[in-house]
Amino acid sequence: MSRIKDLRPIKVRDYKLYVINQLKLPVETEWVELSNYQEVADAIRNMIVRGAPLIGIVGAFGFAIGIKELIDKGEDLGKAKEIKKVLEQTRPTAVNLFWALGRMWNRFNKLLENSEQREDIIRQMFKEAEKIELEDYHANKSIGGYGQVLLPEKARVLTHCNTGALATSGWGTALGVIRSACEEGKEITVYVDETRPYLQGARLTAWELVYEGIPHYLITDSSAGFLMKKGMIDAVIVGADRITRNGDVANKIGTYALSVLAKEHNIPFYVAAPTSTFDLKIRRGEDIIIEERSEEEVKKCGDCSIAPGESKALNYSFDVTPASNITAIITERGIISHVNEEHIKQFFKYKGE
Ligand code: MRU
Repeated sequence: MSRIKDLRPIKVRDYKLYVINQLKLPVETEWVELSNYQEVADAIRNMIVRGAPLIGIVGAFGFAIGIKELIDKGEDLGKAKEIKKVLEQTRPTAVNLFWALGRMWNRFNKLLENSEQREDIIRQMFKEAEKIELEDYHANKSIGGYGQVLLPEKARVLTHCNTGALATSGWGTALGVIRSACEEGKEITVYVDETRPYLQGARLTAWELVYEGIPHYLITDSSAGFLMKKGMIDAVIVGADRITRNGDVANKIGTYALSVLAKEHNIPFYVAAPTSTFDLKIRRGEDIIIEERSEEEVKKCGDCSIAPGESKALNYSFDVTPASNITAIITERGIISHVNEEHIKQFFKYKGE
């Protein structure tokens, strides 16, 4: 077993949250202090932190920080609803944010029902957020364990966006599977889509792979089809931002095109995600809200303009991959290998319609 280094993108000290500023990577590893809930909301909105599970975890800490602010200032705890709303309005697509805030909200209301002391409410709120963080870490390790079995001893794996330690509490989902496979001694070469326009692949995934010493090639997004046709890819593995009841998967823009290419070339297409990424209330992918970000992210690369100012640009941040293009979804509770509504309902013992 080879040694894989631990990388954690956030830490909590004295009721303050510190996060790696992902806007500065790979050039600089800068830690940013977030000491009020508005700063936390801005950090999510402006993508200082990003990645579905991490957005959920950071949102949970943001809520705890917000409750502490209310209590410290002697304000009405009824304002907690507003804090939740501000955090929810940061990014719409990843369900983990809503899931984590829902859980924090329920815990908060339980504490109020039990008329806990205000100091205890603060402590318990941070404890709940820490629990969410820790559970995510264990979920990732478990996803890694289940997922690595699917990869051959020697595999060339294509991935998209960043699904590693930086997108989670640590380790990662899709990249976590790759980490686990390397830890098992498998010979993995990773093909990393640069992931235009935000370059999560080039800036973040490549950085993590360098950190781990895992062999990889950075490729332009448009190279994927050519590499598949040449027989250079054995598997595709991606993460998810929201998975609906029928198994459709919202993930970083470009994922859908990869799934079509993988199907055409008979290459397994895996999705790795914790169960907190499933949204069983939503039946199909068409009903997922897809975030649209600014034109500037497309028309610029860093500070440099790469398009005429007059051009209009479209910037959907995510797309939806239909269940029928997915070979299997790897979760911390096991693998869903027939991705359809019936099997997902069975897997979750879901009794709704
Ligand atoms: O816009 P981002 O960087 O937050 O998008 C991230 C992704 O699309 C990831 O693939 C997804 O969140 C899974 S992360 C484990």
